[in-house]
Amino acid sequence: MSDSGMLDEVVRRWSDGQRPGALLGILEEVQEHNKGDYLSESDLRRISELTGTPLSRLYSIATFYSFFNLTPQGEHTIVVCRGTACHTRGSRGLLADAAMRLNASGFNIDEDSAFTTADARITVRTVACFGQCALAPVVSVDGVMYSRMNSTKLASLITRLINAKPAQGGEK
Ligand code: FES
Repeated sequence: MSDSGMLDEVVRRWSDGQRPGALLGILEEVQEHNKGDYLSESDLRRISELTGTPLSRLYSIATFYSFFNLTPQGEHTIVVCRGTACHTRGSRGLLADAAMRLNASGFNIDEDSAFTTADARITVRTVACFGQCALAPVVSVDGVMYSRMNSTKLASLITRLINAKPAQGGEK
């Protein structure tokens, strides 16, 4: 959740002159300022109040664009593509592997689209398509795309993340 001074300032700055893309800009900046890179319900309520935008509209924007998060994110992010091409080439198994290796016991592969490890170090989420179907299955790790992923390669990427030094402090 944001401190309200920061949030009010972001809204004020973007609303000056009703700049195009203001709502997206506000949501993006507020998320960037938040530890855990996410938009809390209270953030969205305050933005709704300050901009006069219905809360439901803010939720539709935040859920439409995959770069917005509504729950706190881990230090590292693994994104597994669940589009048709990637599914056909084994992305469900990759997601199951990640959940098993990261002890995501409450994660339901058929219903949930994301989980974060208990120590908040790693978030795993899915995407509908990266637009690189010819290279399926595709997985990204901290924004770096990996094509033709398999269980062995994924296991070694996960081990690397687990062994990476945790970020100090984590404050933004
Ligand atoms: S279906 Fe995975 S990149 Fe398109």
